[in-house]
Amino acid sequence: MGGTSAQKIGIRLDEVSVRFGETVALDRVSLAVHPGEFFSLLGPSGCGKSTLLRVIGGFEAPDAGRVFIGDEEVTKVKPQSRPTAMVFQSYALFPSMTVSENVAYGLRSRGRSKRDAEPAVLVALGRVGLEELGDRSVTQLSGGQQQRVALARAIAVEPGILLFDEPLSNLDVALRERTRRELRAVQREVGYTSVYVTHDQQEALGLSDRIAVMRDGRVIQTGSPENLYAEPETSYVASFLGGASIVTDPSEMAALTGREELPAGKVLAVRPAGLVVAGDGVGGLPATVTSQQFLGDHREVVFATRSGLELKAHFSEQTPQDLSVGEAARITAVNPKWVLPDQ
Ligand SMILES: Nc1ncnc2c1ncn2[C@@H]1O[C@H](COP(=O)(O)OP(=O)(O)OP(=O)(O)O)[C@@H](O)[C@H]1O
Ligand SMILES: [Mg+2]
Repeated sequence: MGGTSAQKIGIRLDEVSVRFGETVALDRVSLAVHPGEFFSLLGPSGCGKSTLLRVIGGFEAPDAGRVFIGDEEVTKVKPQSRPTAMVFQSYALFPSMTVSENVAYGLRSRGRSKRDAEPAVLVALGRVGLEELGDRSVTQLSGGQQQRVALARAIAVEPGILLFDEPLSNLDVALRERTRRELRAVQREVGYTSVYVTHDQQEALGLSDRIAVMRDGRVIQTGSPENLYAEPETSYVASFLGGASIVTDPSEMAALTGREELPAGKVLAVRPAGLVVAGDGVGGLPATVTSQQFLGDHREVVFATRSGLELKAHFSEQTPQDLSVGEAARITAVNPKWVLPDQ
């Protein structure tokens, strides 16, 4: 087994719907994950990310639609007969077993003997940097090490497709960042197609080849991190991925952008770093500072306009110093995005 020999398999979902009673967890979701790609499902709690991952893994049967893995339709194929392995948020390790026994578990449950499983276990432990700890009880490991055992267990079966459900959310910030880098390195090395569920936009941006942004059981937009960030199509994607404020009032849009003609049917998404205070007599939108706080590498200032709209701005050290609460200012937007409004 080696990184270059890994079989790369694509995934395709065709109009997949899942209902739980009245709840529509997935609403005609279609998407394609390319072979070898690191693909993230990003969205707020309850938008259907885990359900979509479980449909791919075979743990949830769609009410409608079809699922393909490689060239094969697997809509009705059982989880253990799919080339997928799942890594969970709660690592789901067996506390009574050693590290090696935990990693061997997936292989054993697929009918491999203990001796037969051993080489694959060693390779998997090596990949996650735990070759020294095989004989330890998993209860004697840190959270980050336990997460790596869970990853080793998944890759030991050479699944072709790895499915991750918020695998790092139990780790503290520093460990999460390190484990994220390690996880990405391991994925690059083994080359398995990966689908990664997260509600953390930084995590999705940093890890992914492509991201599907989800909302209310639907995929809203799919693209590379750079593409989604630079070209959000909707106000939802602009605010979820860039923390943009959304301006819908035509006169406010005109004042912020300094243009009379506005694109029909669009609203304006303004990122915090894209708001500037206009000099005297150069137009801009009148606003009042409602809060401001120093956050280390930038200062966050919230403005309110006459219509009651709140606009969040980040200023670097060139911050206009007199922006204290209650101060009036005229603001303009640099490189704002025209996006479709919330439906
Ligand atoms: N077994 C179930 N029975 C009933 N409703 C369910 C079930 N599983 C999920 N749901 C509902 O389906 C919707 C989607 O749930 P899902 O777990 O896929 O969301 P999620 O995006 O993973 O959320 P989170 O970020 O909180 O994990 C939610 O409204 C949820 O309450
Ligand atoms: Mg979930």
